[in-house]
Amino acid sequence: MKKILTIESSCDEFSVAIMIDGKIKTNIISSQISEHTKYGGIIPELASRLHVKNFFWVLSSALKEAAIPIETIDIVSYTAKPGLIGSLIIGKIVAQTIALYLNVPCMEMDHIQGHIYAANIEQKFEFPLLSLVASGGHTQIFLLKKQLDFNLLGTTHDDAVGECYDKIARALGFGYPGGAKIDKLASLGNENTYQLPLSMQDDSYDFSYSGLKTASLNLINKLKENLNINDFCASFQKAAILTMVQKFKKAIEEYKPKMISIAGGVSANSRLRKEIKDIANDNNIKISIPIFDYCTDNGAMIAELTNEYLLYRGE
Ligand code: KG4
Ligand code: ZN
Repeated sequence: MKKILTIESSCDEFSVAIMIDGKIKTNIISSQISEHTKYGGIIPELASRLHVKNFFWVLSSALKEAAIPIETIDIVSYTAKPGLIGSLIIGKIVAQTIALYLNVPCMEMDHIQGHIYAANIEQKFEFPLLSLVASGGHTQIFLLKKQLDFNLLGTTHDDAVGECYDKIARALGFGYPGGAKIDKLASLGNENTYQLPLSMQDDSYDFSYSGLKTASLNLINKLKENLNINDFCASFQKAAILTMVQKFKKAIEEYKPKMISIAGGVSANSRLRKEIKDIANDNNIKISIPIFDYCTDNGAMIAELTNEYLLYRGE
């Protein structure tokens, strides 16, 4: 039985997952949101300090929940990049210390690849696969012609979609992170009340969210208390999600994937999930979307990625 212990600490969550023979046994996540929300965003120094404070109980809880002694772990892995450098370093030190103590290999993993493979935990990928990565730090389209073959088709030129959600949520006084709150209120509003721009409608697969951000902030400042919050959230969500969906549809036409997928924190968004399911139905394409627990940062997605690399190497 192969046992993988994985650490994900790239931003404001410290998470430890244990996978036994390809199955996630535990996925403990310590969230720091309540600490950062009072500042309206993540304070990197605070994130690192809280990782130092939290890692021991997260690790102990994971081992307890998986009901295995640490000595039985065969492989350790951790998120090496991209992320906040202080946060990444804490995860790396914890992972390498465990690997050194156990005398087992320690593998470096990529956070974005982990987000993509979160969907593979429940529904195995078929190739070619197109994945839309929508997170707090990234908005990207990847083509995977085969397992672990990541080809970046396009990326954001400025803000990421989740970042845009969070900045607008902050201006509305929703606290950090506000994407889920906007999503919830959007379901109560009229999406055609306010006209907000769909940026970068060009031939590339790149994105830009600064135009939507500026137009939204201007509208909020102009209308003040006359702004209908639910209608605004619905209108904003329509523009934010359709900006990605339009480009994703274009990529589907060009690359004709067998399966499509979404990844990252914004893949929890109700509108995005519905749009992606509709695209799959309309085009008769298979779909793999992550369950909610695996959308935002978590160790399980990095463990799944580690396992795929091991399988690929025949281990
Ligand atoms: O992937 P993630 O945990 O962080 C990065 O790796 O960047 O994503 C966090 C982002 C935040 O911006 C948060 O507001 C957004 O995901 N988010 C949502 C929803 N749930 C989380 N955005 C829109 N709708 C949601 N339901
Ligand atoms: Zn992430």
